Amino acid sequence: MLILGIETSCDETAAAVVRDGSEVLSSVIASQATLHAQTGGVVPEVAARAHVEVILPVIERALAEAHIDLKQIDAIAITYGPGLASSLLTGVTVANTLATFSDKPLIGVNHILGHIRANWLEREEQEIQYPVVTLTASGGHNELVLLESAATKPKLLGETRDDAAGEAFDKVARMLDLGYPGGPAIEKIAKLGSLSADSLLPRAWLLPKDISRNFNSVEVGERLRAGRLTLTSFDFSFSGLKSEVRRRVQNKKLNQQQIANLAAEFQVAVVDVLATKLFLAAKHHQAKEIHLAGGVSANKFLRKQVQKYSAQLGITLRHPTKMSYCTDNAAMIAGAAHWLYQKTPNKYQKLKLLDVDPNLNI
Ligand code: KG4
Ligand code: ZN
Repeated sequence: MLILGIETSCDETAAAVVRDGSEVLSSVIASQATLHAQTGGVVPEVAARAHVEVILPVIERALAEAHIDLKQIDAIAITYGPGLASSLLTGVTVANTLATFSDKPLIGVNHILGHIRANWLEREEQEIQYPVVTLTASGGHNELVLLESAATKPKLLGETRDDAAGEAFDKVARMLDLGYPGGPAIEKIAKLGSLSADSLLPRAWLLPKDISRNFNSVEVGERLRAGRLTLTSFDFSFSGLKSEVRRRVQNKKLNQQQIANLAAEFQVAVVDVLATKLFLAAKHHQAKEIHLAGGVSANKFLRKQVQKYSAQLGITLRHPTKMSYCTDNAAMIAGAAHWLYQKTPNKYQKLKLLDVDPNLNI
């Protein structure tokens, strides 16, 4: 089955052609990063206008690079939420129109499910062993999701109560004057920084390092069974961490080394929280695999830490096969649409026009 995927939920205009949920024939991404660098973050109206300007050429290029004519496409997939309303609207309007005029099934895809399904791209379906626990860490959302089997609906285990991890990277980068997007900028400068044991930044709801990071210890097992290990299930919070960074920056003129040190401390704190909660959830649900997804999963320090823990627990670790499948792209949307269609093909036989849902949950 050939699906044309379209993604415009934030600041990337993307289109892709994917066969059978995994074989990517083309994946075109027009990033607005340089545009938003001028304001240090995404201005929704500016993002929507930029989507309008490039969306048709991006779709045309995706079809051309795949050597596929629109007539050969079996279905059109579109992200309808969560995301910025005005950005989503551009993609949804184009997809509604294309599906109507080409008389093709239209499959609405949850952006978070798209990120989760990025781990199926360019892989054999049979490779994946369930249960899977996925960490989705992006600029707009941050979840821990359990996939019990190929057939069951993803189950939300925890989510952020305030900022998403990527959003925290972006905001801290702005405080440190490192530019947008903040994640790659912080990762780069953090390599030059050093950590000091007495300046630990806050890690919301985690017990002291020695207990909760030893995933194989009897004590951790007992505490998990008793539901006492993370004080509030598997939710995240990064606002306290962000405020503490702000407090350390405010009214001070930091030199380059101090900025690098603070960036390194911040990155370690975020990664510690993400990785620890991911593995506690994996252990609790006896996961066979853990997956990383979303823009923050491009972070090499996170990957290294998670690799260490997965070796410790003997759990298979996967992240998207390409960096461009970590951040927003349309291949993951076309991929996710394939699995939705396989489950309930009848649902998509009669064209139903879509509306956007900026606050859609998984
Ligand atoms: O998944 P994504 O492209 O868009 C959303 O769905 O939000 O994620 C973008 C986020 C941004 O906040 C960006 O700073 C972060 O992912 N990001 C990173 C890295 N690359 C992108 N964060 C940490 N380290 C990175 N290398
Ligand atoms: Zn995303």
